[in-house]
Amino acid sequence: MNNKTVFVTGATNGTGYAIAARFARENYHVIIGSRDKENAQRAADRIAADYHVKARGYAMAVLDEENVKEIFADIKARGFSLSCLVLNAANLGIGQEGLTVDVKEFMEVINTNITWNFMLARQAALQMKEAGGGTIVFINSNTAYRAIPDRIAYSASKSGALGMMRAMALDWGKYNIRVNAVLPGMIKTVRWENNYNNCRSAPSNYTPLGDIAEFEDIANAAWYLGSGESRNTTGAELTVDGGNMIQLYPVIPES
Ligand SMILES: NC(=O)c1ccc[n+]([C@@H]2O[C@H](COP(=O)([O-])OP(=O)(O)OC[C@H]3O[C@@H](n4cnc5c(N)ncnc54)[C@H](OP(=O)(O)O)[C@@H]3O)[C@@H](O)[C@H]2O)c1
Repeated sequence: MNNKTVFVTGATNGTGYAIAARFARENYHVIIGSRDKENAQRAADRIAADYHVKARGYAMAVLDEENVKEIFADIKARGFSLSCLVLNAANLGIGQEGLTVDVKEFMEVINTNITWNFMLARQAALQMKEAGGGTIVFINSNTAYRAIPDRIAYSASKSGALGMMRAMALDWGKYNIRVNAVLPGMIKTVRWENNYNNCRSAPSNYTPLGDIAEFEDIANAAWYLGSGESRNTTGAELTVDGGNMIQLYPVIPES
């Protein structure tokens, strides 16, 4: 058993949980971050039982730097050796249209997806620098490049987070800290399952591969970028969208 630890935010279910489980499968200890303390510990207990690793859940207060510092101090005090931080949690900012969106709500999305992730990445980097290295993986989105309707702050935040990812990769490379991003397209979440009729007709379903991502596809990409498998890669983007973004337009069969 190694002493490596991964910290995944927003990881009580879905994409985040799959990422945590992927690292646990490789004998990493796991830190689960969630806005809900009980859910975080429940998910951590499940990981510990299924993969026989140490796992701990933390309640995260969005944009509270003191809370971020406390969490990282506690992780260190408990003897976890933080090798990888995966920034998965996001404010999805659904239904925000540019002419009507409340500026406060716009800023909440930007601040959650950029500023809060900055706070988390910085505390992680301080520990990784001391330990001689580590990795940070942003779960970003192909909407960083291609906008979708009524998601103005979300698209802006994902583009901004990519710029921040590159700046971190540049500044922290000398500490052997690698920083990279996974860019999913549409993922088969519960939201997608519950909204099948809408989603089925969404143009982003029509990818060259004819499919969209499962949680495990994103987890495998995060594992690649967050582990030693990608030893010489930093500041990079790994798109996992079935080829959606390379199309000028989706090819939709007439039937
Ligand atoms: N779903 C997609 O089709 C898709 C496509 C492209 C990119 N992505 C990206 O992939 C990542 C995971 O996506 P997902 O759809 O699986 O995410 P999700 O389930 O909607 O969110 C992941 C977690 O983020 C936390 N979260 C939700 N709203 C938040 C808020 N306002 N402030 C802070 N935390 C919040 C929640 O954790 P707690 O409630 O436990 O705190 C949630 O479980 C995200 O970064 C997303 O932007 C998703």
